[in-house]
Amino acid sequence: MQEAAKQKESRIVLALDFPFEAPEKSARVLSKAQKVLEAVHPYICAVKINHHLILPLGVFNGVQQLVAQIHEKSIPAIMDAKVNDIGATNQVMANYYFAAGFDAIIANPFVGWEEGLKPLFEVSQRLCKGVILLAFMSHKGASEGYGQTIIDAETGERTLQYAVFAKKALKWGADGVVVGATRPEKIAEIKQIVGEQVPIYAPGVGAQGGAAETAFKAGASYLIVGREIAMADDPAQAARRLCESVKKV
Ligand code: XMP
Repeated sequence: MQEAAKQKESRIVLALDFPFEAPEKSARVLSKAQKVLEAVHPYICAVKINHHLILPLGVFNGVQQLVAQIHEKSIPAIMDAKVNDIGATNQVMANYYFAAGFDAIIANPFVGWEEGLKPLFEVSQRLCKGVILLAFMSHKGASEGYGQTIIDAETGERTLQYAVFAKKALKWGADGVVVGATRPEKIAEIKQIVGEQVPIYAPGVGAQGGAAETAFKAGASYLIVGREIAMADDPAQAARRLCESVKKV
């Protein structure tokens, strides 16, 4: 990520998301994704793929082709699977995504370590892939889970759920944490915990109301941006403008 960001002079991760299309039109989804990628790649440092493409295209059909296209641009591909199952299932899921060429996967720490995310980290480390953990999601309802005051299962102390997840990101050796750009104050708090060791990925800019500059100033390392770019009339112009606007932050 660091190399790609330096080379592209951008810290924007493109969320390659498109609205629902009838399944028989999936070829159109693939061609839209390819076109946006071709237009936007000079202004981004990575691409994040979500169920928006996995479901209509399939992992080893259209998506694997897209991952190869992403790699041709010398940028990494992140799978936003929000892995959230028992360890054995998580491992199989991750193996499929990594076999398709993804460089990193997003996982949900709510599922815990033993028989949860530990097997995912093991397979990721063995294959030299990354794991990025959710710490505080970008939507409003995220405060009902990630924002709760809890009793830490390990220390017995009263604390905040997202602070525990940020500490776990350090302890488990995560390659990043996701914190909503809609919550710059949480980005700042989590930055205090993870420091320079774990980069913060901030989604929620534009369509969800977050501001790019504010998120970077609070401590985000990368922005994750979907509709603001992918759905723009001119995706390349939208990406270039966003990229330019935050270059000096
Ligand atoms: P927009 O269109 O809102 O898309 O720019 C954002 C993209 O990022 C995903 N998303 C998240 N992913 N943690 C994640 O791992 C989050 O808190 C989060 N919030 C948004 C969203 O699914 C879309 O792909």
